[in-house]
Amino acid sequence: MQIKTIGLLTGGGDCPGLNPAIRAIVKKSIKKNIDVIGILDGWKGLRDNITRRLDLDAVSGILHRGGTILGTSRTNPYKNLGDIRKVKENYKNLSLDALIAIGGEDTLGIATKLCKEGLNIVGVPKTIDNDLSETDYTFGFDTSINIVMECLDRLHTTAESHHRVLVAEIMGRHAGWITLYGGIAGGADAILVPEKPINLSKICETIENRKKQGKKFSVIAVAEGAKLEEGQITQTQELDAFGHIRLGGIGERLAKAIEEKIQVETRHVVLGHIQRGGSPTAFDRILGVRFGLKAVDLVLEGKFGYMVSLQGLHIVGVPIEKATGKLKTLDKEFLELLEEVT
Ligand code: F6P
Repeated sequence: MQIKTIGLLTGGGDCPGLNPAIRAIVKKSIKKNIDVIGILDGWKGLRDNITRRLDLDAVSGILHRGGTILGTSRTNPYKNLGDIRKVKENYKNLSLDALIAIGGEDTLGIATKLCKEGLNIVGVPKTIDNDLSETDYTFGFDTSINIVMECLDRLHTTAESHHRVLVAEIMGRHAGWITLYGGIAGGADAILVPEKPINLSKICETIENRKKQGKKFSVIAVAEGAKLEEGQITQTQELDAFGHIRLGGIGERLAKAIEEKIQVETRHVVLGHIQRGGSPTAFDRILGVRFGLKAVDLVLEGKFGYMVSLQGLHIVGVPIEKATGKLKTLDKEFLELLEEVT
C-alpha cells in the first residue's frame, strides 16, 4: 500500500518530548514524500475535523519546547457512538492512509479499538508517569524526575534551615515511578508510593531517628496515589472521560498526621503540573526523536496496531494492545530498592 498522507495527533496529558517526536515524524515523512496533517487536541480534533498542515516551517524551532504544538485533550470518542462515526468519517474525508497517535494508556486504548474497526494506526507512547507496559521508558518521565529532583534539593535547604519536615506530593497516578526515581535522586528521607500502603509509625520513627542523629529536618516524597489507612485521597468524586478520578491531597493529609503524631512542624507542597511543564531533557528529546522516526517506519511497513517501544538500547515495534492491557507499576525489585535507599 502506498502511503501518501498521514494524520498525527497527541492525546491525554501533555509532556516534554512531544514536540521533538512531532518534528521527527514530519521531517522523515516529508523526506519520504508523505504529507502530514496535524490533528488538533487529540481525538477531539479528529471528531470535529480541526486540523493544520504540518510542513517543515510548522516544526521549525520546536525541538526544545515542552508541551505539544498540536494541543491535546482527554476526549474519549467511545463515550458517544455518534463521535466514533464522526472520527471514522473524518479519517476518510481527510484521505488519511494512516494515523500516528501519540499518547498514554487512554489515547492508545482508543487507537487499539479503532484499529480493530479498520483504521490504520501506529502508536507512540508518552507519559511522565512511565506506567505503560512493553516499553522501558516513555518520554516525559526523565524530564519530570529531573524537576522533582530539583524541587527536593530546594526543599532540603529550607527544611534544614527551619528544622521542619517538608512533604512533597508528586504526580504519577497509580504508579510510583516518578516518586521513586525523583525521590532517590533528590535524597528524600522517606519515599511513599501507591504500590505499598503508607506506614505512618515508620515515617515518624525515621523523622525521630534523624533528629537523634542531629538532623532536625526531613524531606518526604509522597506519590499522589499513595494510600493511608483510608485509601487514596481524591480532589473530587467526578471521573474524567476515561473513568479516572483526580488524585490529590495526600501531601496535606500526611503532613497533618505527622504533626499530630510527633508534634514536629510539618508543611506540604504539591509539585503539580510543574512536573509536566518546560523544556525536555536531552534524554527525552532523543527518545522523542527516535520514537518519531520509528513510528514512520512502522507506517511504511504497514504495522498497524503496533506502537514504538524502547527495549534496552533499541527501538522496536510492539502490539499496542499488549502495552495498554496492564499498567506498569513498581514490582518487587523496585520496592526492594525503595527499602534500601530510605
Ligand atoms: O498522566 C499524567 C498525569 O500528570 C498524572 O500524573 C496526573 O495524575 C494527571 O496526569 C493529571 O491530569 P490533569 O492534568 O488532567 O489534571
